[in-house]
Amino acid sequence: MSSGITPDGDVLGGSMGEVIRDGTGFLSAEDRKAIATYLMAETD
Ligand code: HEM
Repeated sequence: MSSGITPDGDVLGGSMGEVIRDGTGFLSAEDRKAIATYLMAETD
């Protein structure tokens, strides 16, 4: 969500590249972590 590069070195492109360049790349590390925590949370 910060750089568009995955832990295994893949590069996210297309519309996801725009999301990162124009959006999530501007978030603070804290806010990105909050989004990741929310998305990874177990649901009932
Ligand atoms: C906060 C919002 C978002 C998050 C956290 C997010 C997260 C991700 C992640 C983790 C992947 C990689 C999946 C993988 O390969 O394992 C991905 C891929 C992708 N996302 Fe998003 N996404 C978001 C919003 C969006 C939006 C709004 C769009 C479309 C307008 C979008 C379009 C795509 C596309 C097209 C890919 C595939 C990119 C590629 O393989 O090069 N994403 N996204």
